[in-house]
Amino acid sequence: SAACAKTTVLTADRMIDVENGKLITNAVVVMEDNTIVAAGTKRSVTIPADSDVMELGDYTLMPGLMDMHVHLTSDATKHGYKRLADSLPRVTLTGVKHAEATLMAGFTTVRNVGAPGFADVALRDAINDGDIQGPRMFVSGPSLGVTGGHCDNNLLPYEFHTVSEGVADGPWAVREIVRRNIKYGATVIKFCGTGGVLSKGTKVGVQQYTFEEMQALVDEAHMRGLTVATHAHGTSGIKTAIKAGVDSVEHVSLLDEEGIELALEHGTYFSMDIYVTEYILSEGEKAGILEESLAKERIVGKRQRENFQKAVKAGVKMVFGSDAGVYPHGDNGKQFARMVRFGMTPMQAIQAATIHPATLLKQQETLGSISAGKKADIVGVKGNPLDDISLLENVGLVVKDGHIVKSVAM
Ligand code: ARG
Repeated sequence: SAACAKTTVLTADRMIDVENGKLITNAVVVMEDNTIVAAGTKRSVTIPADSDVMELGDYTLMPGLMDMHVHLTSDATKHGYKRLADSLPRVTLTGVKHAEATLMAGFTTVRNVGAPGFADVALRDAINDGDIQGPRMFVSGPSLGVTGGHCDNNLLPYEFHTVSEGVADGPWAVREIVRRNIKYGATVIKFCGTGGVLSKGTKVGVQQYTFEEMQALVDEAHMRGLTVATHAHGTSGIKTAIKAGVDSVEHVSLLDEEGIELALEHGTYFSMDIYVTEYILSEGEKAGILEESLAKERIVGKRQRENFQKAVKAGVKMVFGSDAGVYPHGDNGKQFARMVRFGMTPMQAIQAATIHPATLLKQQETLGSISAGKKADIVGVKGNPLDDISLLENVGLVVKDGHIVKSVAM
């Protein structure tokens, strides 16, 4: 190692090995600059001389958490018509605050699935340049969607000619938007395959985009080396998207048995935001969510939780996706307790927010576990989250890329 390399060592009573689903006691992690160089126990790992040692005691070390469904440029207190008042520069600045809140909550990587004007690309670049603090970001730019669909904006009457930036109809039109999004910095593709809860005039159960359009979109994205995330609540939209080869389905509320079989067969990931329903139903009206959306949520949230349980039981690959932005950024971790309540073991919930997202993003060589050779993205919580998963709502230590960005332990 270079003479100038900075070596930092973390010790803690416990560490979670997400690759093997095991709890390790008397943990030691050695980091050199931004890389983990050794991870194991006090017996197996020698602490190098001249290293900065941080002794955490009654803490559990885990890989940095990963949320596969956020909207950092969205403000949870402004929904519906309130959202029309903020300019693109204004929502971008909101994103700065939300990026920091997300990182401080222990989420060192996020997939931002839908942002206006490539504000997500600007945020990512500002974070990577060190101008602001935030998680590693995989970004989609504007989500693709059909005219009048969930990823269009249907709030204003015809004479305003409002069309969202990702609207495209037809196989070649969707290919063109995929190419444009990549040109302006997207690293993942997001599209809407059914109606949604929060969009005006769309039906959650109804498919948007034909199989032919979905197939063209996925083919174009995969050809360029990007993965595809699909918003889909409705049964036929979920199944058509899986058949078209998408990498993950978001929400997955009205799933049926065949949808589960297809996901298992295709290796498709589900990202089910089962906490957000609580926020929408309790705070949504104040925040400007339309009554028609609240009515949709009353049906969807319950079905989604039942189907989450079925999908977990069947062994579908699950990733943690919260839809933060609909609810406050920084509260992402509240979903863990719901994932356990609806059928996961605490270990499975932690794996869904670490090693599985890393694999979905094809970043398993560098992210997702505390292993030698990977990026030093590590969080620490007081106590043992395998005994009480809600401890993940209070992350005390956050290390991103080898930098200690939060430490309440010392
Ligand atoms: N963005 C999603 C939509 O508008 C939020 C759905 C929230 N509800 C839920 N039960 N997950 O469709």
